[in-house]
Amino acid sequence: MRMTVDWRRAQVRSAEQIAEDVRKIEFDIEGDLPPFDPGSHTNIVVTIGGQRAVRTYTCIPAGPGRMAIAVKRHPNSRGGSRFIWSLHAGDRGEMTVPENRFELSWRAPHYLLLAGGIGVTPIYGMARTLAASGQSFRMVYGASSVAAMPFLNELRELLGDRLELFPADQGKTIDLAAEIAVLPENAELYVCGPLGMLTAVKQAWVRAGRPVSRLRYEVFGDNGKFAEMPFEVSVANKNVTVQVRPDQSLLDALIGAGVEMIYDCQRGECGLCAVQILELEGGTVDYRDVFFSDEEKHENRRMCSCVSRLTTGRAVIDIGYRL
Ligand code: FES
Repeated sequence: MRMTVDWRRAQVRSAEQIAEDVRKIEFDIEGDLPPFDPGSHTNIVVTIGGQRAVRTYTCIPAGPGRMAIAVKRHPNSRGGSRFIWSLHAGDRGEMTVPENRFELSWRAPHYLLLAGGIGVTPIYGMARTLAASGQSFRMVYGASSVAAMPFLNELRELLGDRLELFPADQGKTIDLAAEIAVLPENAELYVCGPLGMLTAVKQAWVRAGRPVSRLRYEVFGDNGKFAEMPFEVSVANKNVTVQVRPDQSLLDALIGAGVEMIYDCQRGECGLCAVQILELEGGTVDYRDVFFSDEEKHENRRMCSCVSRLTTGRAVIDIGYRL
């Protein structure tokens, strides 16, 4: 059972590569489409291995009646980015009306926006909005190289010296402690990037004595420590065993087998899809969520089925432990 089901039919208006390994897809939406804020996301129906699945992407600014996304092609894609990259003008699809769980507060005297790689998608919209409304902010943008940074020309033009780039291939690294140290009191930090970046930011923020309520983040769900391998999961008290493919999430495998699951964000943030691990054999959990604490992850007792997976082997799980 998904929490949000406000679907619209859509048609691809344009598809173009806007940076190394990043493709922008713009859709015309049928029916009403309310205006949406930066940080909003949409859920898109994709086809993976011949099966229907849903993937979540950040909405980037687009004209009235349109939605746009920018998607990085992942070498270890579970199938979502591969499908999106196959779309061309005229293709039809389904997507949800945007929702926002990564909103600007509009209460801070200054904002620090921090983007890592394709995590720039919500940060780009925020930078445009803050610039348009004359807010005080700085944007820090890190990626493997300048060529891998979408929206770069527009951001340079719009932000001027409020933008600083950190391309790793030029040896530039972000000094998080220094960035945080110069922020005025009550400043807020918005960060979107890979799990390692988010963890480092959270630690630096807490070490600096900043209030957690003024740090907002969003993370990709596909940042594992291990390559995706197949594994097997049996559901206790149900006669169901699924083989989870490398290009598939545990959540998708369970839904595909007819197991009724509760879920929402599909990015390891909300915890609704969490399952309890009763037995684990031959592998361990590759945690890719930000819902469980480090302590909970060490216990290997629960995992978010939308993004976290087993390295290999098999597990017995309970899906109804919270009911
Ligand atoms: S659906 Fe939100 S954490 Fe899995």
